[in-house]
Amino acid sequence: MNNSLKGKKIVLAVTGSIAAYKAVDIASKLTQADVSLHILLTKEAAEFVTPLSFQNISRQKISTDLFSSEDNAYLQHLESTYDADAFLIAPATANTIAKLAIGIADDLVSTAFLAATCPVIIAPAMDLNMYDNPSTQSNVKTLQKRGVIFAGPEQGRLASGKVGRGRLMEPNNIIDLLKTTLGAYGDFAGKRIVITAGPTVEHIDPVRIITNPSSGKMGFALATASRDRGAKVTLISGPTYLETPFGVTKIDVKSAKQMYTAVLKSVANADILIMAAAVSDFRPTNPHTAKEKKSIAKLTLPLETTEDILASVPDNLLKIGFAAETEDVERNATSKLSAKNLDLIIANDISQPGTGFASDFNQVSIIDRKGIITPLPLLPKSDVAWQILDVILDLNP
Ligand code: CTP
Repeated sequence: MNNSLKGKKIVLAVTGSIAAYKAVDIASKLTQADVSLHILLTKEAAEFVTPLSFQNISRQKISTDLFSSEDNAYLQHLESTYDADAFLIAPATANTIAKLAIGIADDLVSTAFLAATCPVIIAPAMDLNMYDNPSTQSNVKTLQKRGVIFAGPEQGRLASGKVGRGRLMEPNNIIDLLKTTLGAYGDFAGKRIVITAGPTVEHIDPVRIITNPSSGKMGFALATASRDRGAKVTLISGPTYLETPFGVTKIDVKSAKQMYTAVLKSVANADILIMAAAVSDFRPTNPHTAKEKKSIAKLTLPLETTEDILASVPDNLLKIGFAAETEDVERNATSKLSAKNLDLIIANDISQPGTGFASDFNQVSIIDRKGIITPLPLLPKSDVAWQILDVILDLNP
């Protein structure tokens, strides 16, 4: 199971902004993530998007009226907040934010907010002048001081045609923030994890490099899964095309030497190091400062070994390595585990089609110090990441 939202009780409150249509997307994504979703709409929100849209997506009856006797709305919606895991208001107008800051409860959303005891996330959406207005700013600060989490707003083009801060945060980022918030109660809460990902790059001359086909997907999947389970994640990555997971601190590096420096600095405060990066073992001894012309006809390239990062990290934290092998996979991986004094090594056979570098899937075996091998089936990298974390948790990091 790699879905930290599954089964969580979330209240999604929608208020009357032009961005209300994006809340349909949020509701759809949360429903697909098997969230137990309760949706509240203000009357103004229903002017922008009909309750029917939300009703069809969430398969529940949506009410916009606090005093509707038909479905006992008042009590039903208040009760929905009592045992909620999180209360998300997206989009939140300046008017709603003002009401929440001073405790007015005159519609479904503001009333439910007052009754909520769970973490509250507010994603504002309004014109830039409205957001920058000192009243709104003071209301935002008041709510922040009381522990309310603000998601955005983001910079961008607004409904008025102006460009500035006021756009609703992208639905995917809102959902990632929700996961990060719920992660505070996850099984990795309070753990600090350093994860490396991607290839390293060693220059031969300014235009030629030695690198490898690592995409970084496995390391990024581990970073996302660790974040979702509550860890504070530092991701040290070589060049990749992947988007930085929301809520993760990313340090960009190129060479093995830069990765070495970044890892040694970051592990000083960490509980766990996972080296998923494909670190170059060699670099040119004397990289040329000027472009080498092909007229030299023959190029001999003296190479030297790079720093072995894992082997250089002190033993006062859990160390997990990867071993990408093409033959004798488990034997080679086990000898790396002992040589580098690791707690676990994740062995994968990169000669198998559909796994390893650049694939969205991986087929690995997890090997511990006692030689116990946990083979996993071919799985999406997000699932592999989740299962690796399960084994790490058993080691009491
Ligand atoms: N690693 C490292 N520093 C290096 C090379 C590798 O920390 N300079 C880490 C990798 O990130 C991985 C583990 O060590 O987690 C094993 O890497 P791998 O390349 O499989 O092993 P090597 O020790 O480089 O041995 P070989 O290339 O000979 O198989």
